[in-house]
Amino acid sequence: MTEKKYYITTPIYYVNGSPHIGSALTTLCCDTLSRYHRMRGEKTWFLTGTDEQATKVYEAAEKVGKSPKEFVDALAAEFKSAWSNLHIENDDFIRTTEPRHVRGVQEFFSRLRDSGDIYRGMYEGWYCVSDETFFRDTDVQEDHLCPNAECRKPLRRVQEENYFFRLSAYAEPLLHHIEENPDFLQPDFRRNEVISFIQQGMRDMSVTRANNGWGIPVADEPDKVIYVWFDALINYVTAAGWPDDMERFQELWPADTHLMAKEIFVRFHATLWPAMLMALKLPLPKQVYAHGWWVGSSGQKEGKRTGGLPHPTEFSAEIAQLTGASKDIAVDSLRYLLLREMQFHGDSEFNYDNFLRRYNTDLANDLGNFCNRTCNMVGRYFEGATPDGIVDPEISGLGTEVLADYDNALKEFRFNGALEAVWRLVSRMNRYVEEKKPWTLAKKGETTELASTLRTCLEAIRVMATLLHPVMPFASRSLLEQIGADHIPKFEWRDAGNWCLLKSGAKLPEPQPIFPRIQDTKSEEPAKGGNSVKQEKKLSEETIKPVQKEESPETTATAESETITIEDFMKIQLRIADILAAEPIPNATKLLKLTVRIGEETRTILAGIAEMYQPEELIGKQIAVVANLKPRKMRGIESQGMLLAADVEGQAILLHPETKVPSGSRVR
Ligand code: MSP
Repeated sequence: MTEKKYYITTPIYYVNGSPHIGSALTTLCCDTLSRYHRMRGEKTWFLTGTDEQATKVYEAAEKVGKSPKEFVDALAAEFKSAWSNLHIENDDFIRTTEPRHVRGVQEFFSRLRDSGDIYRGMYEGWYCVSDETFFRDTDVQEDHLCPNAECRKPLRRVQEENYFFRLSAYAEPLLHHIEENPDFLQPDFRRNEVISFIQQGMRDMSVTRANNGWGIPVADEPDKVIYVWFDALINYVTAAGWPDDMERFQELWPADTHLMAKEIFVRFHATLWPAMLMALKLPLPKQVYAHGWWVGSSGQKEGKRTGGLPHPTEFSAEIAQLTGASKDIAVDSLRYLLLREMQFHGDSEFNYDNFLRRYNTDLANDLGNFCNRTCNMVGRYFEGATPDGIVDPEISGLGTEVLADYDNALKEFRFNGALEAVWRLVSRMNRYVEEKKPWTLAKKGETTELASTLRTCLEAIRVMATLLHPVMPFASRSLLEQIGADHIPKFEWRDAGNWCLLKSGAKLPEPQPIFPRIQDTKSEEPAKGGNSVKQEKKLSEETIKPVQKEESPETTATAESETITIEDFMKIQLRIADILAAEPIPNATKLLKLTVRIGEETRTILAGIAEMYQPEELIGKQIAVVANLKPRKMRGIESQGMLLAADVEGQAILLHPETKVPSGSRVR
């Protein structure tokens, strides 16, 4: 017998509109989990696809004057390319118009009709096309709008001879199964919703509709088509080979995880689907898991319905444009941001500016800078070769804790928790560099300590890359390349707990910043309103003020002997700035180019301090600057301010506030 694979599925998406970051979220979560299981050495199978036989799909095609087939072909292709652009590595993609699915659905239906679980009856009631759901008279108010508060679209009156599925017969067995298997429906609070839904009484369900030219016909009664939800749920088994390839089916079924958002959990995935499987005497999926929604601004739960959320491909292209990062790094950044900003179990409001802000803090500053600084120092102090040294046990000890937290978080589908755990290590390592001061060790000639410090930093980057691999498959590879670890052919889970894997002496390439900073994000107040990329972009442009160049007072040097009035002094705007980046300027021995943040602004300042300071020791420091000095160009670069330093025999010693203060604080 072949080994059972870890089988994970997304819902199959309706092709009545384009993908957006909402549908991308479920797909990305499944991709991340499947990569994580693969990294742990398990065989995995990740299925996604498109739901194409729905009335609303047919009507959407009609609206744009296309044949339904032509319409669904184009949209299915768009979904496929959106997922491949998002670095999604699914093993299969099922379309419900494919023969393998059509045949399986007809067979499923016939077998249940033969066993008596599907029977003929008269249906009279209401149908919501938007939700593709039947409602009884007693469910509906006088306004005849969909009772689902998130929908409220006009209902259609339906009266037809239909087939019914004996759902009511499975209420008790289902309750029993839920009780016996607490992990079956997750998270817990959603399982409780299901239990009360079943306890309120599950009625038999109409599972056919009159054939209006679209849908899977009942094999021997082509005037009827199978209800789209009954058809769609079956994709999970037809894609696994049922009923024709039972060998493959044994390898995959039961699914380990069906993942979806909350709105299709209670009625469909947690009740109808298991009841259908019970009726056919097939094992139930091991786990059915529901997450919350990405919603538009002001809490409108409309993202799912209107598609008012950005398209993932457009959004990542925009990140690439804003940052100057490669397309693949921008895609991985979006993957990170979608999982990091999402409160998985509840709804999360999408906010474009928050995404960009987090890109700068987490990726450009914390992770990117740490990697870049480390590689630069290895370049400077060890001629770019991996130093041999003992890894600091405090850091590898933290690594062990992080690993356990990461693992527990992913087991509970807390993607942001797993990433937070990795960032505990990232933050610690940034502080570690500050504490160890490799530049001082180098000056003092303490080579052994220097080698151990930098070796610890390099191994930490490798561990981070391993843990980040399921979320950022491309960027994690770039991190390995930067630290000269090309000899590691693939990411393996056990490497995340190993702190001695790099090859001493291995050469590092020329350091490149992997996540270039976005220069223009507003850093403090989260922006409000607007939920599409374009709207939010506009909002950002309105709210991000260009560098304020207030009416510049004459700042020509005052002779040292002259006194000035307090009013004169007040004309000089002295501010505290954070140094975000520092780099040498080619062919300039004294000048360093600093990128500083002064409150909400990011500026470039050139300073003649290269003889006293190494660039990497400046990052993260706070300094005092003259913020309203007229900008001037030096070596082709505009310097937008001046820093304050004590002049000790011609050497500049920087002034720092005694304790950390908010960026942009005034100095008086
Ligand atoms: N076709 C059905 C599913 C059949 S599965 C047998 C369907 N399709 S859908 O296109 O509406 O997709 C719904 C799913 O897409 C959600 O359950 C969720 O997984 C994902 N999402 C769509 N919009 C979303 C958000 N705004 N936020 C989070 N997930 C979202 O229902």
